[in-house]
This record gives sequence, C-alpha cells and structure tokens, in this order.
Amino acid sequence: MEKINAVITGVGGYVPNYVLTNDELSNMVDTNDEWIMTRIGVKERRILNEEGLGTSYLARKAAKQLMQRTGANPDDIDAVIVATSTPDYHFPSTASILCDKLGLKNAFAFDLQAACSGFLFLMETAANFIRSGKYKKIIIVGADKMSSMVDYTDRATCPIFGDGAAAFMLEPTNEDVGVMDAILRTDGKGLPFLHMKAGGSVCPPSYFTVDNHMHYIYQEGRTVFKYAVSNMSDVSAAIAAKNNLTNETIDWVVPHQANLRIIDAVANRLGVPHEKVLINIERYGNTSAGTLPLCIWDFENKLKKGDNIIFTAFGAGFTWGAVYVKWGYNGADRV
Ligand code: UT7
Repeated sequence: MEKINAVITGVGGYVPNYVLTNDELSNMVDTNDEWIMTRIGVKERRILNEEGLGTSYLARKAAKQLMQRTGANPDDIDAVIVATSTPDYHFPSTASILCDKLGLKNAFAFDLQAACSGFLFLMETAANFIRSGKYKKIIIVGADKMSSMVDYTDRATCPIFGDGAAAFMLEPTNEDVGVMDAILRTDGKGLPFLHMKAGGSVCPPSYFTVDNHMHYIYQEGRTVFKYAVSNMSDVSAAIAAKNNLTNETIDWVVPHQANLRIIDAVANRLGVPHEKVLINIERYGNTSAGTLPLCIWDFENKLKKGDNIIFTAFGAGFTWGAVYVKWGYNGADRV
C-alpha cells in the first residue's frame, strides 16, 4: 500500500481591525515604544474589542476564508479542530461552535489545548487522522483572543499579546509532501512560571479571585525566556538533524512569535539567515496558538512546492516542539 502523507492544501487567516499601538499602551501603563521594541519586538497588536465576540469569531473568519480559497464543500469536511487557550466557554468546545457557524453537517469537532504550542501539537494530531486513511479533509485552526486574559495594568505582560486566528486544510496525498515529522515535548514542572491562577477547578471564580486579578496571565518572564530559547533551539536542531536538513536545505523557519530575541536565538542556532525566518511579531505580537499559521497566511506567496519548513514553538506547561513540513503548493498562484 502506498504511504499516505497529510498535506496542507490551503490557508486562511484573520486579525481584528483594532490596532493597539505601543503609544496607546504607554498611556495605560508605565512603558514606552523603545523598551517594547528592544526587549520584545512588538510595534502593535490587533484587539477584538467588539462586545460579545470571542475566539470562535476569529476562528470563523479564518476558516471561512480557508473554505473559500480551497473551494471546499462544507459537506466534505470530516473534522474541525481548534487549538486555543481562550475558548468562548469552558464548554462546549470552540470547535463545536465553529462547526455550526461553518455549516458542517458531517464533521466532528473538538478543541486542543497546549497553550502557545497548540498549533504544533494540532498539526501532528490532525496529520495522524489523515495518515490513518479514514479522513479526507480536516480543518485545523489556531485561534486566541489573548486580550480576554491580559491584565492591562501589568506592564510586564500587556505589551506582549494580541488577538488573531489562522487555519489550514489538511488532506491526504501520495506525493512526498506534507507534515513529514514532529518532535513534541511537555514538562509539567513549568506550571509555576506561566499560568492563570483562577477560574479552573482548583480555584473556581469568586469575588476574591476577581478582586485579586487572578483571571489574567501570570508569567515569570525571565525563566520562561530561558527555557524557550534553549528548548526551541534544541528541538529545531534535533528535527533538522533527524531529517538530514542543513541550513542550506531548510527553506523557511516559522518560529512562535513571542519575542524577537528568542526568534533570533533559534535562527542563529540553526545557522539560518534572517531572510529565511518568517516574522510578523512587530504587527501582531504573540497570538499564542495563532502565531504559526498566521505567519504562513502572511507569507504564503513566498512559499513554493517542496520547500522545507521547520515550525517551532514554546508555551505554558511547559510545552514545546518542532514540526517539519514539506510545502505542498506554489503560494504565489493562490493569493
Ligand atoms: O508565549 C509563551 C512563551 N512566552 C515567552 O516566550 C515569553 C518569554 N519572556 C520574555 O519574552 C521576556 O522575559 C519579557 C518580554 C516578558 C520581559 O523581558 P525581560 O528582558 O526578561 O525583562 P525583565 O522581566 O527581566 O525586566 C527587566 C526590567 C525590569 O526592571 P528592573 O527590575 O530591572 O528595574 C522590569 O520592571 O524591565 C522592566 N519592565 C519594563 N519596563 C518598561 C518590565 N516590563 C516593562 C515594560 N516597560 N513594559
């Protein structure tokens, strides 16, 4: 039997219209454009500020564009999976809301939660559904409304994050393209350094938790930074070595957009020049599960069939990893 590969056959994306600039942020907390640009590398981020709209709205916009670009018939979609840490509700899943909004009649849907590494874990998960031979079209979405859990009185975290979503279509192929390999890791000892203190089953919401700002992102930045640099660099180097990829044969590196200094460190470790690294942190900040597919959405026209791409990310948990993708089509023909 011929080997079934899972290939990405299209991309859709969405960022909300509202632009939150560093200048506006510096009116809210004691910060400035120079600090944010040199320490993080974010100039502005997009915020979904219409009342009553959550992550499924971002996901729906991205997935609708994907379906329109790929010409997919809603009845042919087998599954829709959303990677997110900011679901519309604790339950039901954001994917089930999306499934309804997209009019999918024959699909099953669920969310996957692996924080900023969510889309990495999702690519490998969905690729395995496709490789099984049982499923033909799967929509995968990385979507986060980070503004819903950012404390805009905390200068250490509020400049970092933004809202956005992007989606891929995954389909089977017998060609030698698609999701080729993945190395995924988790170390639960990361909990104290990056988490939300309340709102879950350990500490349900109360007046106390609200009064004490316990429903926001808590991050010990320096520690997370250190682990992000070493783990993303190591795992990217490992997946390159495992697949005989060198700085010559790697065409693109797509790193999680959390901090430009982390991105530079990963690129240096791989020995890959700046032109091969896809970066849009300056415009969107860290959209968590959204960063990796949003990079592809932004730079799709540069990608050619057969290009070797290394995706890498690091997030709460800790979670991290790298996915090696051989791109499946000429992006310039699509946009
Ligand atoms: O996506 C999930 C994974 N997350 C990450 O990868 C994030 C990893 N961490 C980071 O990116 C960085 O640690 C941060 C961007 C969060 C912080 O940068 P840093 O260079 O590690 O700064 P720091 O926390 O060590 O703070 C340095 C100084 C402190 O002042 P003192 O104590 O040296 O006087 C902070 O109070 O910078 C101060 N500071 C600020 N100053 C101006 C912290 N935030 C700000 C700010 N504006 N917004």
